[in-house]
Amino acid sequence: PVPELEARIRAARATLGDRLVILGHYYQRDEVVQFADFVGDSFQLAQQSTTRTDAEFVVFCGVHFMAETADLLASPGQSVILPNLAAGCSMADMADIDSVSACWDQLTALYGTEPDEQGRVPVIPVTYMNSSAALKAFCGDRGGIVCTSSNAAAVLEWAFQRGQRVLFFPDQHLGRNTAKAMGVGLDEMPLWDPRKPLGGNDSQALTDARVVLWRGWCSVHQRFTPEQIAGARAANPDVRVIVHPECPVEVVDAADEAGSTQYIKRAVETAPPGTAFAIGTEINMVRRLAEQHPEHTITCLDPVICPCSTMYRIHPAYLAWVLESLVRGEVVNQVRVPADVADSARTALQRMLAVRP
Ligand code: 13P
Ligand code: SF4
Repeated sequence: PVPELEARIRAARATLGDRLVILGHYYQRDEVVQFADFVGDSFQLAQQSTTRTDAEFVVFCGVHFMAETADLLASPGQSVILPNLAAGCSMADMADIDSVSACWDQLTALYGTEPDEQGRVPVIPVTYMNSSAALKAFCGDRGGIVCTSSNAAAVLEWAFQRGQRVLFFPDQHLGRNTAKAMGVGLDEMPLWDPRKPLGGNDSQALTDARVVLWRGWCSVHQRFTPEQIAGARAANPDVRVIVHPECPVEVVDAADEAGSTQYIKRAVETAPPGTAFAIGTEINMVRRLAEQHPEHTITCLDPVICPCSTMYRIHPAYLAWVLESLVRGEVVNQVRVPADVADSARTALQRMLAVRP
């Protein structure tokens, strides 16, 4: 039962004291979020994991790529722990190092390697934070960078200063929505389909591309539709519709605003009382905002409950187990980025952290 688990978590936490910091993503369930020392979006959590240098153990209530990022940014001697190692991300799994390398080889064969007169290389790889450390290392080794949903525009700006084109993976929607808002035409953003045989993607479209988009998506955000937005507006013409940029472009176009989880939170916090919101993002976060802001009317755009099934794998039972193991002196479920990719992945992350949004 959860109350018993909560008492065990509290006791273990008290024993560990300052040796422990617990980080939680906004999409975590409330039973877990209540124990987090810091709750944030993926960019804030990456930053936060660098600040508690004194804590020996960073228990990351989020998904695997976030724990990997925390490990890359951790101080010497810190251990990063993911309470359930099965908490992955289906979008991150849509791009693997072999298929991205095959794509890259084909693109570089097409574009050559010569910089243009402004010194911009033919193509810069940009990976969404939601990707393996191996892909972050791939970017680090090729002059590329990482982005999150809260700094994607600033990162693409950075990339266009250095490259004639961008290869953006794994989330086609974040890439498309961000580049479109910067004035890149949809016809300048062909989709790279890794399932096609080598040479099977349209080379003319790739040659003319400004952004080559990987065919990846988020199973939670892909569910939102323009019809849901039309329904919300029909029910209340004054409703303010905010969606996450992992939603399809038609959804972002139909919404009033699009932004990262932190952007959505801020929008709710700063709105005049009595605002009606229809929000297109993960349900745990929308429900929490609704509870914390009774002065507004906050609903989720999707009437069918849409939790992120992998974020949901962090159950209080796992949190209790990892903390009690630490109390016994056992470090379980440590996430450690392999040494052969860590330096290059860190390079790509540090480039991101140096970009001012
Ligand atoms: P942000 O935390 O960057 O808004 O991203 C949402 C997400 O899908 C995390 O996996
Ligand atoms: Fe991955 Fe989507 Fe879940 Fe985020 S919400 S962890 S992108 S599946």
